[in-house]
Amino acid sequence: MNLDNVYKRLLDQLKTGVLLLDENLRPSYLNLAAEALFEISGKQAPKMVLGDVLLDAQEDIDEIRQALINQTSFTKHEATFRLPTGKSITVDYTINFIEESGHPQILMEVNSLYYSQRISKDEAILSTQATTRELVRGLAHEIKNPLGGIRGAAQLLADELPNEELTDYTNVIIEEADRLRNLVDRLVGAKKLPVMKLVNIHEVLERVTSLIEAEENNKTIELVKDYDPSIPSFMGDPEQLIQAILNIVRNAVQAMDSPAVDHDLGKILLRTRIARQVTIGNTLHRLVVRVEIEDNGPGIPAQITDTLFYPMISGRAEGSGLGLSIAQSIINQHGGIIECNSEPGSTIFSITIPLSDGNQD
Ligand SMILES: Nc1ncnc2c1ncn2[C@@H]1O[C@H](COP(=O)(O)OP(=O)(O)OP(=O)(O)O)[C@@H](O)[C@H]1O
Ligand SMILES: [Mg+2]
Repeated sequence: MNLDNVYKRLLDQLKTGVLLLDENLRPSYLNLAAEALFEISGKQAPKMVLGDVLLDAQEDIDEIRQALINQTSFTKHEATFRLPTGKSITVDYTINFIEESGHPQILMEVNSLYYSQRISKDEAILSTQATTRELVRGLAHEIKNPLGGIRGAAQLLADELPNEELTDYTNVIIEEADRLRNLVDRLVGAKKLPVMKLVNIHEVLERVTSLIEAEENNKTIELVKDYDPSIPSFMGDPEQLIQAILNIVRNAVQAMDSPAVDHDLGKILLRTRIARQVTIGNTLHRLVVRVEIEDNGPGIPAQITDTLFYPMISGRAEGSGLGLSIAQSIINQHGGIIECNSEPGSTIFSITIPLSDGNQD
């Protein structure tokens, strides 16, 4: 057996990217993981220098050159590189000086952090939500009890009042108590347990778009649909899913009204896809459905990006800040998660829901 082939096969099995750089920092060898990570083929690589693979990375490249000259090694954590394809990657890497047949070389080992970062982000989102929900539930209970008492007392008082006109005041107390109760109920979220049945995600989206179209009679917003028709039905509560997605689409419509939008045509894209081997929290799902709602509005205001899904966080003067928090708890009840990526001109809310095993084809 040819030992070179065995080593090559072993290197190609690794999840760690391995790059060999010659004395001019030209990649003379890449294993498969490095080819995938840097999005170049082993054939192209020897014609490139490291600066062609990692753009705007002069500082890192200088340090690597220094390691070659001084015959040293080092490790760097969470380095971000821009690739010629435009993609950014965040990696940990180790530089080792080696000498082969009198030629100084650099062995670079690279681990992508995309996967581990995504997991910790999901966990952070889920645990923050659980904490907020507990807090809001406790607070809601404390508010509703005395509120019931205030309302009841105002009603008794109204019956005893000698003068009919004075009931205007007790009516204010009753109406305001009802308004507060309503707000608290919305804060706590859906009281009903979800009623699970087989759901076709596209029927849900069609309901949402027809509701939006009915609300939006000025037609300055174009709704574009990009559906994957092969997505199987799954167990879910269609009414609640409509509510969750409606809240997100409505936000996009409202964002388009902002004076910061510098184009005439607002566009909202609804995209559905299947994805495989996706981790939510720390559970790996074989198959998930992904619904993306993308708009070309002004983007999420910077000051609320970290707390976007919290209740009562709003960037609109007339907003109550509950839409996204309700949407997130509905999607959580379906075992899924909502994430958001936003910049001016492109805001994408991405809903991921696991497809339970029983319903996969
Ligand atoms: N697509 C979007 N583009 C820009 N900003 C957005 C978008 N979606 C949400 N936001 C921002 O996030 C905030 C929170 O949204 P959320 O739906 O939770 O509350 P709200 O819309 O303010 O009030 P409510 O939905 O309860 O009426 C919004 O006020 C808005 O500033
Ligand atoms: Mg909203």
